[in-house]
Amino acid sequence: MISNCLKINHAGHLEISGCDTVELAEQYGTPLYVMSEDQIRETCRRYVASFAKNYNGHGKPIYASKAFSCKEIYRIVLSEGLDVEVVSGGELYTALQAGVPSSQIHFQGNNKSTGELTMALENGVGDIVVDNLYELECLEKLAAQRNMTASISFRIKPGIDAHTHEFIRTGQIDSKFGLDLASGEALDALRQAKEMQHIAVKGLHCHIGSQILECAPFVHAAEVMLDFYGKIRNELGMTFEHLNLGGGFGIHYTENDDAIPYENYMEAVSSMVHSKCQELNLELPRIFIEPGRSIVGEAGITLYSVGAIKEIPGVRNYVAIDGGMFDNPRYALYQSAYTCLVANKADKPADYIATIAGKCCESGDLIQEHTPIQKPESGDILAVLSTGAYNYSMASNYNRNLKPACVMVSNGNSRIVIKGETYEDLIRNDV
Ligand code: LLP
Repeated sequence: MISNCLKINHAGHLEISGCDTVELAEQYGTPLYVMSEDQIRETCRRYVASFAKNYNGHGKPIYASKAFSCKEIYRIVLSEGLDVEVVSGGELYTALQAGVPSSQIHFQGNNKSTGELTMALENGVGDIVVDNLYELECLEKLAAQRNMTASISFRIKPGIDAHTHEFIRTGQIDSKFGLDLASGEALDALRQAKEMQHIAVKGLHCHIGSQILECAPFVHAAEVMLDFYGKIRNELGMTFEHLNLGGGFGIHYTENDDAIPYENYMEAVSSMVHSKCQELNLELPRIFIEPGRSIVGEAGITLYSVGAIKEIPGVRNYVAIDGGMFDNPRYALYQSAYTCLVANKADKPADYIATIAGKCCESGDLIQEHTPIQKPESGDILAVLSTGAYNYSMASNYNRNLKPACVMVSNGNSRIVIKGETYEDLIRNDV
């Protein structure tokens, strides 16, 4: 199985962290997001241990909560010693409500509103990652009005083109995120920030993309960022407490994904950081990385009930489920690969080629095309694997479908962490 928390049990059913998925579907209904707490915690521990082993614990992983945000996930990652990254007032609010200390919150975003910046300042967010000069000026003004100092880092575009889907690539020059290195924009921003009375620059940040399946781009990013740090130190006399190298560590969606053990990233990056800091005579900064997908992605699955099956001879077999692009828009958006299987027939051969269709009024509402699954019948439970990241967080109410519940499982036990929506929820804000 592509994820450690999954296995096929004696009944021939798919099991996640000791829970039979067919029983979960019966108990909680479908569609249903299921997340393995055991696997999430294990991944957090692996990241934390890689800092201890390779970098003397001088830094930490930060959970990029855009991958999956709800109160319980913040509590879990916090208890494993991670900081939290948020990217909107909504994620910030959820993290604060879950009890994340504001000093452990890193606030990203390429166009934070004045309201969001004010919320961050007034709640004492420890690290506001400034994306552009407009934001820097707003923040200086807002902090001055409150007689406060904003602790910030700068998001830099290191000019690295990671080999991943173009919509989730971010480190290259043609990107809406961050300040450009090559044109001098980033240097100029730092020069301006140095003169500001209410801004304290604590670090530099970059994020080169997502679902990256090799170490080299991260090592390269560390090299480029430290060269830039050396230049700033020499030209402006500024030093920083931390360097944040972003997230983007790839996971298994199918057996074809050659995901690297997550420990390897810190191992590779820390040796570059050590040698560059020595070469440039820089004190070792704290290193942060920001994994999102790799913390929750493989820990999650989605369970659906199979409804209509339409076999169009010579064309394809549509297997319709009770979910679709409203709970998982990733195939419609990125043609993302997924592993699908019939959870109640998981021990049978996957010799039926199916196109998994959602229930939205939209031909592109597919979860996967021409994918091998066990021969399905209406009423079966279909499982889609590795849906823990960017599924619930990207869900919508398209066609006024209800966002499904999310159940956390651990060691044979299950509990609801997000309730399923109701029809009343849908009209709550209608007037
Ligand atoms: N840090 C920053 C600044 C980011 O922009 C992101 C992701 C991360 C960390 C976490 O990256 P991860 O470790 O999760 O790859 N919706 C897309 C992914 C968009 C990622 C955006 N930024 C998808 O479903 O594939």
